[in-house]
Amino acid sequence: MVSNTFDSLHIVMVSSEAVPYAKTGGLADVVGALSTTLTKLGHQVTLLLPGYRTWLARKDRREAMQFSVPVGGKTTDVTIEEEYVTVPGALHQVRALFVCYDSYFDRPGLYQQDHHDYPDNLDRFALFCRAVIQVLHVFVDVQRKTIDILHLHDWQTALCAVYLKALAHEHNSLQPIRTLLTVHNLGYQGIFPGQEFMKTDLPSSLFSPSSLEFYGAVNCLKGGIIFSDAVSTVSPTYAREILTTEYGCGLEGVLANRIGGVSGVTNGIDEVAWDPAHDAYLSAPYRADDLSGKYVCKRALQQELGLPILDVPLLAVIGRLTFQKGFDLLIEILPELMALDLQLVILGTGDSHLEQQFIAAKEKHPRGIGLYLGFDEGLAHRIEAGSDMLIMPSRYEPCGLTQLYGLRYGTVPIVRRTGGLADTVVPFRPSTVKSRCATGFHFIEPSPDALLSAILLALHVYEEQEVWRSLVTSGMNADLSWTQSAEAYVELYRRLQGRR
Ligand code: ADP
Ligand code: GLC
Repeated sequence: MVSNTFDSLHIVMVSSEAVPYAKTGGLADVVGALSTTLTKLGHQVTLLLPGYRTWLARKDRREAMQFSVPVGGKTTDVTIEEEYVTVPGALHQVRALFVCYDSYFDRPGLYQQDHHDYPDNLDRFALFCRAVIQVLHVFVDVQRKTIDILHLHDWQTALCAVYLKALAHEHNSLQPIRTLLTVHNLGYQGIFPGQEFMKTDLPSSLFSPSSLEFYGAVNCLKGGIIFSDAVSTVSPTYAREILTTEYGCGLEGVLANRIGGVSGVTNGIDEVAWDPAHDAYLSAPYRADDLSGKYVCKRALQQELGLPILDVPLLAVIGRLTFQKGFDLLIEILPELMALDLQLVILGTGDSHLEQQFIAAKEKHPRGIGLYLGFDEGLAHRIEAGSDMLIMPSRYEPCGLTQLYGLRYGTVPIVRRTGGLADTVVPFRPSTVKSRCATGFHFIEPSPDALLSAILLALHVYEEQEVWRSLVTSGMNADLSWTQSAEAYVELYRRLQGRR
C-alpha cells in the first residue's frame, strides 16, 4: 500500500466531542480546530464522533457504511454517517464520520442528564470504540486506504487503543497504525464497577493491575495510557504535574512508567471563530489598535445580564461549575468583592451546590452580579468581549481555553499558576511590565485570600490606564494560533511513524 501523497499523513481523529457537532467544553474546540489546522497543513483527517442528537437533527445526513459490532457479548447493528467539511485554502476536506446507534446516542446530553452520568456510559463508549475499529478495518482491508495515526482523546476513546493492541491477533492488518492518546483532563478516567468489565468483551486477563483494573474497578483511561504508542497532554506544565501524586489522580505511577514519557503540547485557539474583529455574536467589532468596540460590547453585556450600565471594572467567570475550576474560592470572597466598586458576570453550569450559591449571591447583589446558569456559546463570546478581567482560580487546569479567549479579546486573565494557565498567561511583574510582555495576573495558593490579593492587584493596575492598556494589547497580540501546536503534533506523529 502506498501512502496517499508524498509525506502527507492520514490521521484518524477519534473524539467524544468536536466543534461544530457537539460541545460541553474545551475538548470540542481543540478537536475541531486541530482537525482543520492539520488539514490546512496538507494532511488528511478523518474525524470520528458518536452520532448524537445534535447530529441526528441535521437534514443533510448521508450513510457511509453499515455493519455489526461485536461488543458486550452481543452484536449490534450500527450505521456510520458522514459529511465532508471544506477547509478554506486546503487541498483536502475533513471527513467527519458519525457512529449512529440511536438508543445510545440519541439523548439530550453527551454524558449525563440532570447532573447524573448515564448509567450505561461504559456500554456506550465501548460500542463507540469497537465501531471505530470496524471503520479502520473497512478503510484498510476493503478500501485499501493507509492510516498513519489513530489520535485518541480522553477516556471515551481510550478503549480503541486497547482493542487495537491487546487484541492484535484479531486486528493484524491494523498493526502498522500508531496510536496517540491525548489526555485533556486526568480528573475524568471512565471508571466503572469491576463487574462491568465483561461489557468491554476484552479477555479477563486484562482485568489486572497491569492493564485496566484500578482498585477493583475498570479504568478506561488507564487502559488507553498503557496500550497507546504515545501519550500526550495539553500543556508542558500539566505534563509534568500529572507525574506527581498531587495532580496524578492515582495514575501518576502508570504515567511515569511510560517509555517516552508524556508530551505536553499547548492548545491553540480557532482564530476565525474567536476573533473580536469579526465575531458575529458581538454588538461591535474591535481590534487591539482601536478598542472603542470593546466598550460598546461592555455596555451591551451589562444590559443583557440586567446590570446597571456603569463605568466600573467588569470581572467575569465562564466555565463548568466543578471542583476543578475553583469557583468555590470566588464564592468565599464575594462579600469583599461586592463591597468594591465593580461588577461580576458568571456563565456556567454544573455542580448544583455551586449553582445554588451563585443564585443566592445574585439575589443578594442584583446590581453587582450578572448570572446565567446554562450553556450559551454566544454569551460566552459576549462575556469574553465585554468584560475587563477573567477569573480562573482552577485547582488544576490541563490547558484552559477560556483564558486564551480572554487574551484574544483584551480581557485580562487572573489565573492560578497551574497547568496551561501557568504556560499561557505572562504574569504582571516589574520586569514583564517593563518588557511589555505581561498579559495577566497569577496567584499560587488555591485559597480565597490568594485569589482576593490577585484581584485587588489587578484592580489597582486597572486604574493605571497606560499599564492596563499594555496588558490588554500584549494579550491581544500574543500568538495563540494552532499552527505551532499542530506542527508539534505532526512531529509527534512522525516520531511514532518512525517506530513502525
Ligand atoms: P474545560 O474544557 O475544562 O471545560 P476550557 O477552558 O478548556 O475548559 O474550555 C471551556 C470551553 O467551554 C470554552 O470554549 C468556553 O467558552 C466553553 N464554556 C464553558 N462553559 C460554558 C457555558 N456555560 N456556556 C458556553 N460556553 C461555555
Ligand atoms: C479539558 C481541560 C482544559 C483543556 C481542555 C481542552 O477539558 O479541563 O484545561 O483546555 O480539556 O484540551
